[in-house]
Amino acid sequence: MVPRIAVLPGDGIGTEIIPQAIKAIQASTVKCQEKFIFTEALVGGAAIDAVGVPLPDETLELCLHSDAVLLGAIGGPKWDNLPVALRPEAAALLPLRKELGLFANLRPAFLFPELLQASSLKPEVIQGVDLLVVRELTGGLYFGEKKREKLDRGERAVDVLEYTTYEIERIARLAFEAARRRRGKLTSVDKANVLESSRLWREVVSRLGREYPDIELEHMYVDNCAMQLIRNPRQFDGIVTENMFGDILTDEASMLTGSLGMLPSASLGGKVGLYEPSHGSAPDIAGQGKANPLAAILSAAMMLRYAFNMEKEAMAVEAAVRQVLAEGYRTPDIMEAGQRLVNTDEMGDLVAGKVEEVVVQWG
Ligand code: IPM
Ligand code: MG
Repeated sequence: MVPRIAVLPGDGIGTEIIPQAIKAIQASTVKCQEKFIFTEALVGGAAIDAVGVPLPDETLELCLHSDAVLLGAIGGPKWDNLPVALRPEAAALLPLRKELGLFANLRPAFLFPELLQASSLKPEVIQGVDLLVVRELTGGLYFGEKKREKLDRGERAVDVLEYTTYEIERIARLAFEAARRRRGKLTSVDKANVLESSRLWREVVSRLGREYPDIELEHMYVDNCAMQLIRNPRQFDGIVTENMFGDILTDEASMLTGSLGMLPSASLGGKVGLYEPSHGSAPDIAGQGKANPLAAILSAAMMLRYAFNMEKEAMAVEAAVRQVLAEGYRTPDIMEAGQRLVNTDEMGDLVAGKVEEVVVQWG
């Protein structure tokens, strides 16, 4: 069976970075007999413009019948004022995650030593950063009941934050297992001093922790975690947290790697995994060749690893990214004096070229 990848470039810089990820995947399989089959489909604002809905049935069907999904980014100002039922984020990205059963979002924040100077944070603070945030992705505030009510004066808006034991257990188990393959430390992040859902979260994670005596488990409040990530990020190995906290903390964690354009992600838990950069559609720089494709390319490496068990190819892609950075090539977001500025497409070509070299070299 030839493995099939559903390709959903989406909006904004999504259409610029996804071709670069595809080039890297293709380069990683130059020596393989079987090549992947890539099938593109519409999603997000692009789908609204073309067919009137942000998540067409054909797109969902394609994803469900593929072996992996490669997603660019979704949303943009053009579609921001549509009713919720049509908004790309609420009506395409979230249902896609839910329909595919992707309850676990893995976001590794790894600092390539070559980018030590690119971050706005001090090199001595971020040196050696290598952490993994496991974000719960199909529960919490994002998916709880939402409503609006008219009051005598003004309105009332409600978003429900709820978690069940089952939901907490499955994400925590996945995080404990991931910690086992790393340095064996797991920080569970919650707001148990205020939220009932966090108190259940803490109880369930603690109970499960007894099954993993080899893992050093600690609990941390989310506000403290936000501070600790900047104060001393090297203290973290694995972090597991609920949906909204994970959304916020991963944007913060991305800056430990130099740029949001460096943070890949894999969403797992269902039959088909979804791989996407953690950044959004970046409408401010879309269409200008300024986007950093490395988060998308590193997401492709995660796909090779998790969806296809192609560890060697995944490592080749990661090694290629590192070499291209070592040679001084930079997109604007990670540019420093003395380095060589390249555009999105050039960066993609450089990485793909290197991937081929590495694959051939490794034999
Ligand atoms: C992310 C994004 C999305 C999220 C938005 C676009 C809905 O910020 O993947 O982190 O909040 O999950
Ligand atoms: Mg986010």
